[in-house]
Amino acid sequence: MPCTDCLSRRALLEGGATLALGLAAGCGGGAPPAKDSAAADPDSGAAPAPAPAPDPCAVEAQPGAPGWSGIALAEHPELAAVGGSALLNISGINLILAQPEAGCFVALSSACTHQGCTVAFSGGRFICPCHGAAFRTNGEVLSGPTPIPLPTYPAAAVDGVLWVQTGA
Ligand code: FES
Repeated sequence: MPCTDCLSRRALLEGGATLALGLAAGCGGGAPPAKDSAAADPDSGAAPAPAPAPDPCAVEAQPGAPGWSGIALAEHPELAAVGGSALLNISGINLILAQPEAGCFVALSSACTHQGCTVAFSGGRFICPCHGAAFRTNGEVLSGPTPIPLPTYPAAAVDGVLWVQTGA
């Protein structure tokens, strides 16, 4: 069970003391997370290096494959320029599409993972207008209040068509 569910349910049912207890003990009271086998030498005192984030610009489109939808870029001129973005619903999913670098397109859920406000693309990042959360183009959280990344969807342009994978 995700921590946010755990905390909110306990907070509602039992009040702040339990909330503090849940924070101190960790949700579910389970075993601590397993150590990363790639962790730094424990004697060095250095923090382990974080895993590299996936490169959203390295996606290879699969035009016409199941789960991929094509969008004619000519019909969405707001996406044509670097820094451009568009809000679209593809296969029932509300997405924000953006071109953060020339020829690199990204597709993310447009619903902020805090309380669901629609994010906007600005200055190379996704910003939530409601409480200021910011996300990288790979969905990682730059700043809260939410710790939850924006879901991402593979996207790549081929011959003037932006292909986005929303299904298997
Ligand atoms: Fe996005 Fe609160 S709804 S930061």
